[in-house]
Amino acid sequence: MPLLTRRRLLRRAALSATAAGATHAGLAGAAVAGTAASTAALVTGCDTTPDPDADPPGSLRFPPGFGWGAATSAYQIEGAAKEDGRGASVWDTFCHTPGRTRNGDTGDIAADHYHRYAEDLDLMRDLGLHTYRFSISWSRIQADGSGRPNQRGLDFYRRLVDGLHERDIAPMATLFHWDLPQALQDTGGWENRDTAERFAEYADIVFRALGDQVPAWLTINEPKTVVQNGYLGGHHAPGKQDPAAAYLVAHHLQLAHGLAVRALRATGAKTRIGPALNLHPCYPANDTAEAATATRLYDGYENRLYLDSILKGAYPQDVLADLGPDSRMVRCIRDGDLKVISSPVDLVAVQYYTPIYVTGQGDTVRKWPTSEASWQQIYPDGMYDILTRITRDYGPIPLTITENGLPCPDTLASDGTIDDAARIDFLRDHFAAAHRAIRDGVPLESYHVWSLLDNFEWAEGYDQRWGLIYVDYPTQRRVLKRSAHWYRTVIRDNGL
Ligand code: FCB
Repeated sequence: MPLLTRRRLLRRAALSATAAGATHAGLAGAAVAGTAASTAALVTGCDTTPDPDADPPGSLRFPPGFGWGAATSAYQIEGAAKEDGRGASVWDTFCHTPGRTRNGDTGDIAADHYHRYAEDLDLMRDLGLHTYRFSISWSRIQADGSGRPNQRGLDFYRRLVDGLHERDIAPMATLFHWDLPQALQDTGGWENRDTAERFAEYADIVFRALGDQVPAWLTINEPKTVVQNGYLGGHHAPGKQDPAAAYLVAHHLQLAHGLAVRALRATGAKTRIGPALNLHPCYPANDTAEAATATRLYDGYENRLYLDSILKGAYPQDVLADLGPDSRMVRCIRDGDLKVISSPVDLVAVQYYTPIYVTGQGDTVRKWPTSEASWQQIYPDGMYDILTRITRDYGPIPLTITENGLPCPDTLASDGTIDDAARIDFLRDHFAAAHRAIRDGVPLESYHVWSLLDNFEWAEGYDQRWGLIYVDYPTQRRVLKRSAHWYRTVIRDNGL
């Protein structure tokens, strides 16, 4: 059995042992969960000497016009799960299945953004955001994932987009952030090639309704997370543990991406489109030849499986060989698919959270302190490495960071403040790494912090707070955290 497939099967046991709230960083997270924070797994000898290339504080000015933003996604903030004709998605089903999410939390109400979007838009303006990345809920537009559009769903996003323009904030919309209509899951979901065709139809509806008003479109959010968490670990919807299906799903998600790119072009819209990929720089855990070899293949599964196909028109040979010619994925690739998948894009959205360190046995180990999300090691230089690597290996395609952030144990103090100093440190170091990448030639245009608001963090429910803005869930009151005030000055000064 292929090395990585075998490792993944082993990890499944570890994952199910940690139950619903295990992790959501896919393989990296799975491996970390498996090692249960054992210090024995830590790579020793971290280099903590200051980076001589680092800019002195106060000197980091970003290029004029750099876009400062924040990101959210539909299921995580909207709530209003049954309103105005919205159909159920796989996440509704998943959350309402006992034992799947921490505390049985659901996105039924979430941050109630569907009703409070005007207040949230005002908060964005108050922060001075230039750009806001959100996602569209497919089952609000087509309750069952096909057929005639639901006008009330389209109207909501029209109001949101108009509200952004009124406040001088550029909308960036993701078409799919994991909330597949349940009706499509019932006919095979992403294992069914037809779902990619349905996605292109949905995309066409959305483009025709909003196309020119949204200057940048993103197709599929983190296809890898659907593959790894939805179909390998099973701790995300649809909750499967089926390695053979997982990579079939990887292909169909990418096919859907390519078909949506073509759908936008066919409308004649002049706006831009690209994929949103969570990329993990992979490093050998030690300096053995075995670790170098295992890291190369790991990188194939984590990064090149999505970058090479979309930007070079070919899946990485080492990954295809590892999967084997008889795998469901390899057997389902049809002539012309890679041409669709590699339809030219205008930008690539990068989501960076954590590096991965790989041993000669193909296991992962930790090297850096982790955040409240056990899968996230805090390593700002990984941001620099992944950005420069894309420019080096794939050319000067415009890049945007569409997610980067930190969960903190935020609490509302009696004086009404929330002092999330760790989030400020984290963002400062990652902004500095992005600045260094720009200085070294990376065409990075904008940066969206994850997240604008505290929200429903998938299997972790409401336990993890990732927002710049605190949400008091019982009252839905919003309170700017210290990081939000700090971010406002970064935006004002266009730097640190
Ligand atoms: C990303 C997801 C986003 C959020 C952050 C923490 O992988 O795209 O929805 O959960 O992680």
